[in-house]
Amino acid sequence: MCGIVAAVSTRDIVPVLLEGLRRLEYRGYDSAGIAVLEPVDAKSELRRLRAAGRVAELAGQVQAQGLAAYTGISHTRWATHGAPTERNAHPHVSGGLAVVHNGIIENHEEIRARLKAAGSVFTSDTDSEVIAHLVAFNRKSSVSLLSAATQAVAELEGAFAIALLCESDPEAVVLARKGAPLLIGLGEGENFSASDVSALVQVTRRVIYLEEGDCAELRPGSVRIVDARGTEVERPVHVSEMTAQAVELGPYQHYMQKEISEQPGAVAATLETVIGAQSLQPGLFGADAEALFKDVSSVQIIACGTSYHAGMVARYWLESIARIPTSVEIASEYRYRDSVPDPTGLFVTISQSGETADTLAALEHARTLGYRATLTICNVPESSLIRQSRLRFLTRAGPEIGVASTKAFTTQLAALFLLTLVLARLRGKLDRHAEATYLQALRHLPAALQHVLAAEEKVAAWAKDFASRQHALFLGRGIHYPIALEGALKLKEISYIHAEAYAAGELKHGPLALVDQDMPVVAIAPSDTLLEKLKSNLQEVRARGGRLYVFADRDAPIGDEEEAVRIIKLTDHAGPLSPILHVLPLQQLAYHVALVRGTDVDKPRNLAKSVTVE
Ligand code: F6R
Repeated sequence: MCGIVAAVSTRDIVPVLLEGLRRLEYRGYDSAGIAVLEPVDAKSELRRLRAAGRVAELAGQVQAQGLAAYTGISHTRWATHGAPTERNAHPHVSGGLAVVHNGIIENHEEIRARLKAAGSVFTSDTDSEVIAHLVAFNRKSSVSLLSAATQAVAELEGAFAIALLCESDPEAVVLARKGAPLLIGLGEGENFSASDVSALVQVTRRVIYLEEGDCAELRPGSVRIVDARGTEVERPVHVSEMTAQAVELGPYQHYMQKEISEQPGAVAATLETVIGAQSLQPGLFGADAEALFKDVSSVQIIACGTSYHAGMVARYWLESIARIPTSVEIASEYRYRDSVPDPTGLFVTISQSGETADTLAALEHARTLGYRATLTICNVPESSLIRQSRLRFLTRAGPEIGVASTKAFTTQLAALFLLTLVLARLRGKLDRHAEATYLQALRHLPAALQHVLAAEEKVAAWAKDFASRQHALFLGRGIHYPIALEGALKLKEISYIHAEAYAAGELKHGPLALVDQDMPVVAIAPSDTLLEKLKSNLQEVRARGGRLYVFADRDAPIGDEEEAVRIIKLTDHAGPLSPILHVLPLQQLAYHVALVRGTDVDKPRNLAKSVTVE
């Protein structure tokens, strides 16, 4: 989704803004822009450049115009209100004032009507432009840009992160945050702001996360923050662990390729604190976890997209190992449904970014339904979900830049397996021997993942068959059905091939009608108790001339390859951890198909990394 980078310094900050925007490209966007206060004689002049396209185009314009300044704001826009054109790109201006905005202003129509009547001239179709005119209007009667902004923010409904600057106060950038992430980066004699820390690792790792309702004023030598009640406040300074190297591509062609290959290390890092342990402690999930987990009667899991698939896998573990009733639901459905809550249950949200608007709203909804025990599994420390949940588990995947989630997914699964074991032990469903066996399997997991990755060449060879197809089916059974769903999601989002997944037993209830010699059918076929059933389903495909692509375990009693049946054998069957292994070749398949088709692997069209709007 949209990204903000802002800076105020005593040196030229234009290169910092452009580099920050490049580092936010992964969030997904369709236009970009910059506004700076350029020193002209003794005054400052607002200059704005915008491009309907990539940051590289904007950078070209900046170079051609020789833009240089000490104060500036910049933006990548993911269109919501108004097409992705230059006139709708941010920053939006009103006189000598410019603003960039992430989120949605829900009451923009009424504010626009009022300001138009008062003489403001609007030049875009966006909801965001009202902010520029509203602050400019307030500025006429307020003592400072900050107070004009706080007054405006009090009127705005919806979710937003805002950065603005004004010719009347050329050494200031003003910020506001409500429902969308925004942080301050602290420098020496300069200060910055951005939507996430990856945009600023080039200049600082000392950051302040603005809290809900905060407004702030940045100057080269000072930072002032006021809370929602207008009281001046201090917020803690964090030193981010993110390094510039962690967000660099290195020897890889794409971030997705890098992130797929990082999975053994990411899973090992996520499991680090338990890998040497004899037994699992509830404290892994937070100080209150034991007390809150002890009497939970059920688990309700809420997430979106790939994170939802992780929740679906976890349901199989939680019910079969911890014997606890578990429901999984898509956040955007749950938040508006009249459900029957179990307030004595554990409410779990799963999110890579921790900023997904629907998941945040579902958590809030759960609180109103009476849930007390709330847990978030998330990859971003200090994210909104982490801060709003009572319990938390941080996956340690490191920054995930490719829009298609890969290592975040496998680390979520590792975390959910730990949750299963902890709940199972507290509920008396796990004896010492079983716990030791599972822990041993977890210790072996990074090595097993490395082994599975080694099949890449064979997977890449299959990709050529898929690249010319319009459709594909993915089949799995039991705990591998969500893995089939995840494989189909990966393929459609980065290769744009229409892919559907089914629980293989459902095939003959409808989808079998789609199968002919042009339909590739991918089967996830681990050596579990459902393998024989799955083999019968595959025969149904074979009999209709379908082309089968089977991922099996090393020792799988599964037939020999023939022209229309291709098989890749991965590694030894991993028992309940098998889904974590079997998703890897599906990620590789999607990646290689996208490579052959020449799509934008890391930034697929229309998608955003962090979905901060509803
Ligand atoms: C797909 C993908 C998305 C996200 C979804 C939820 O590859 O990444 O489906 O999983 O948008 O995002 P988070 O996990 O950040 O809540």
